Amino acid sequence: MSRALHEKPEMTNSRANFYGRMAEENMTPLWEVLHTLLAAEPVTDAVPYKWDYDVCRPYIMESADVISAEEAERRVLVLQNPGMEGRSCISESLYGGLQLIMPGEIAPAHRHTQAALRFIVEGSGAYTAVDGEKTIMEEGDFVITPSWTWHDHGNESDRPMVWLDGLDVPLVETLDTTFAEPYGEKSQGKTRPSGDSLARYGSGLMPVDHEQRSPSSPIFNYPYTRTREALETMRKTDEWDPCHGLKLRYVNPDNGESPMPTIGTFMQLLPKGFETSAYRCSDGTVYSVVEGTGKSIIGDETFEWGPRDHFVVPCWMPQKHIASEDAVLFSFSDRPAQQKLGLWREDRGNA
Ligand SMILES: [Fe+2]
Repeated sequence: MSRALHEKPEMTNSRANFYGRMAEENMTPLWEVLHTLLAAEPVTDAVPYKWDYDVCRPYIMESADVISAEEAERRVLVLQNPGMEGRSCISESLYGGLQLIMPGEIAPAHRHTQAALRFIVEGSGAYTAVDGEKTIMEEGDFVITPSWTWHDHGNESDRPMVWLDGLDVPLVETLDTTFAEPYGEKSQGKTRPSGDSLARYGSGLMPVDHEQRSPSSPIFNYPYTRTREALETMRKTDEWDPCHGLKLRYVNPDNGESPMPTIGTFMQLLPKGFETSAYRCSDGTVYSVVEGTGKSIIGDETFEWGPRDHFVVPCWMPQKHIASEDAVLFSFSDRPAQQKLGLWREDRGNA
């Protein structure tokens, strides 16, 4: 634990009187709050927590009886961090929720400045349309809807579909840059065939005269089949990072950075019996379990997990993951935003 920069000074009658008088003129003494503004380490309201999918799922399905996707605009159960009640936050800077689309439903087209990721948790065959291209989604797929892109969702399959929504809502709120508008029609017109962006930009190739037009990736669906195959091929080399097992980050092929500038996304494989070394980082991280079972020790709490469970590791909290069988974990955080601002830190093996 680092040493505090400043201790809160003692309160005296004359100080209290002075502070009271200046408060009437909308001034306050910095030295009374300096110990919180310049804390030695991150101080967060977020707490570690796990949402068990077996517990969440009945509520998610019941929500379809309560409201339609169209009336709700987005029928999502927000995963609210218990330490941040009423703030629609899963971590300090990010929002998480589980969204349901029933067969035949459409979540109407709209756009907003908040960037969103979808990580498919249950079901197969529903679609997300982004800027005129529809992508059919399967479990484990990672789909982006970058800031200010038109998007709608629909389910033309015969089964419910559930995905994890991750948005930079709290970050955009802090910067006071929220804008949103409806498209005006339920669905946007289709201008490109399904799979077009993946073919153009996601095959290690790119149209010869392509120029980067946005800070976000031109690919908007990163299919799980490819991600899983990459991990499976890489494991043959048998080189494991002590803190991460085998961990990949999703990239924007335009610049090698994260697919969206504010949210970083990762997929990692922990082989059966693997126990990660103690680790912590300044980006609070949300995990979605894709395959396998295991447990995570976050701070001084232990959470057992299995497929479709979600858990959050608040910023700078020591974390350790132990796989009881081969496990695949998806995760997201605000790491690229922190890195761009020169704020990101990690500590390997110290915790
Ligand atoms: Fe949206």
